[in-house]
Amino acid sequence: MCGIVGYIGQKEAWPIIVKGLKRLEYRGYDSSGIALVADGIKSYKKTGKVTDLEAFAEGKALGGKVGIGHTRWATHGEPSDRNAHPHLSEDGRLAIVHNGIIENYGPLKEELASRGHVFQSDTDTEVLIHLIADILKEEKTDLLEAVRLALSQVVGAYAIVVADRESPNQLVAARKGSPMVIGIGEQEYFIASDASPIIEYTRNVVYLKDQEIAFINADELLIKTIDNEVHTPYVQQLEMQLEMLEKAGYDHFMLKEIHEQPRSIRDCMRGRIYPQEGMVQLGGIKEYAEKLRNADRIIIVACGTSWHAGLVGEYLIEEYARVPVGVEYASEFRYRNPIITERDIVIAISQSGETADTMAAVELAKERGATILGICNVVGSSIPRLTHGGVYTHAGPEIGVASTKAFTAQVTVLTQIALYVAQLRGTLPQSKLVELLTTLQDIPLLVEKALNCDEATRYIASEIKDATNAIFLGRGIGFPVALEGALKLKEISYIHAEGYPAAEMKHGPIALIDEEMPVVVIATQNSSYEKVISNIQEVKARKGRIIAIVTEGDTAVKGLADYVIEIPHADEAFLPLLATIPLQLLSYHTALLRGCNVDQPRNLAKSVTVE
Ligand code: F6R
Repeated sequence: MCGIVGYIGQKEAWPIIVKGLKRLEYRGYDSSGIALVADGIKSYKKTGKVTDLEAFAEGKALGGKVGIGHTRWATHGEPSDRNAHPHLSEDGRLAIVHNGIIENYGPLKEELASRGHVFQSDTDTEVLIHLIADILKEEKTDLLEAVRLALSQVVGAYAIVVADRESPNQLVAARKGSPMVIGIGEQEYFIASDASPIIEYTRNVVYLKDQEIAFINADELLIKTIDNEVHTPYVQQLEMQLEMLEKAGYDHFMLKEIHEQPRSIRDCMRGRIYPQEGMVQLGGIKEYAEKLRNADRIIIVACGTSWHAGLVGEYLIEEYARVPVGVEYASEFRYRNPIITERDIVIAISQSGETADTMAAVELAKERGATILGICNVVGSSIPRLTHGGVYTHAGPEIGVASTKAFTAQVTVLTQIALYVAQLRGTLPQSKLVELLTTLQDIPLLVEKALNCDEATRYIASEIKDATNAIFLGRGIGFPVALEGALKLKEISYIHAEGYPAAEMKHGPIALIDEEMPVVVIATQNSSYEKVISNIQEVKARKGRIIAIVTEGDTAVKGLADYVIEIPHADEAFLPLLATIPLQLLSYHTALLRGCNVDQPRNLAKSVTVE
């Protein structure tokens, strides 16, 4: 949700910032802009992708060794050149880029307008730069102090970088609720919303903490809090590899990430499962073993795809560990008055670790005394910092906006948590633990086999690409898979799609079925197989087009469905890890055939840091 890049050092800033913004484009891509500090401030901004900004700026004065850049996902104000960042103070002295939301921008704007400030854009961000400029003038102080005083008046979330024409060799950055990393090079600093723009220049980074403000010039990094306390920067080493951020010969990040799943699932289990011993070890939550053993309830909070993973977790934890589980949309949970006790465990699931609603749900549950565990992908992000313990998914950077490998990694972690809690509570015979863990260990190989359906999904995509609606049906643990399949299709191909429990279809959605309607059914051979066959018959009787995901060698469903995609056989617990693969590929190919931008679907952004 908006990406920020800043540079200060000995090199030309423009190419570094442009490259960095391209790496961050997954965070938002409706407009972008860069301000360079060289003989004053020169600002260039343009609606569209970073390539549109490059084309617009070609031939213009782009020299300068200090600069700030931004790629936007609009919150306040439509996507336009005018609303693109950076925003400048009225006298052109200061420039700001901002990720987040200034919630009290209304009263601040009124107050500033009453003092004669005139605004050029509809954004909340512009209010902040006017406020900083106002304080600089009124208080006759320096930029760092003016930013500090301005931020102490702000309600909301932000990561900002401010440049000043009058102090051309410094930048001031700050964060609260939105991420920010500072890379430390040789007499140079890089600032970014995540480490991806930094990794090719340096591995030494400082993750700015909430309420911290950084003063940066080419020789110095000074960190203070909004309350004016000096903090010593804590320098960490990045572990990410540059290749993880590139397409590695695939046409799209999404396709690469789909094909990475055998590896990402394997990485997610490394050092955690011991099939021969029938044992799971999860170092990040072992401190809470006693709490897990005695928990009255587990509440899972998440959004979107991560919420679907949570529904799979509910099924697995209840089945194997026999603890009641509730799965909540974080955005709803945080605004209810939920009943939470000290004997509850809350598990927050988030790929980005930055989702504002999930963070707010975590804060609420923490205040009420629950033990909070996280399942996150981005190491060092905000949610892992807020939680008591957690398990990283280790799927590697996910750049495609539609989540794929993060989902299967989340499900893999939840499977391990279910078996770990079962082990703690003694709810599964040792032989069953051994059996399940042995299959789990082999899942990467089975996922590899499931990926063989690329050709089949491409063909089916060509058959459904002109549909305007689609229904996805599943039962039991197949239901969240149906939800996830529908979400993938709608978000990247813009075909309206709904996921339903197969048996619920006859309570309403069946009215939609006609010969135009593709109905994707999870019909693998598991406990609800016979029932799902009956549901398929119901669709068939109304002339719906059936696309069935079946177990290798199936004949019964083959006789009924218009199209089938086979996946390898495995225990029902692993159905989500296997059945999701063809659904990801089906969405990918359908979106491609419809001419959609699969990696950057319209209106979306990768990490939703606003509520
Ligand atoms: C869908 C998708 C979103 C995210 C949701 C939560 O493909 O990616 O639905 O799952 O925005 O994001 P995280 O997991 O980062 O909290």
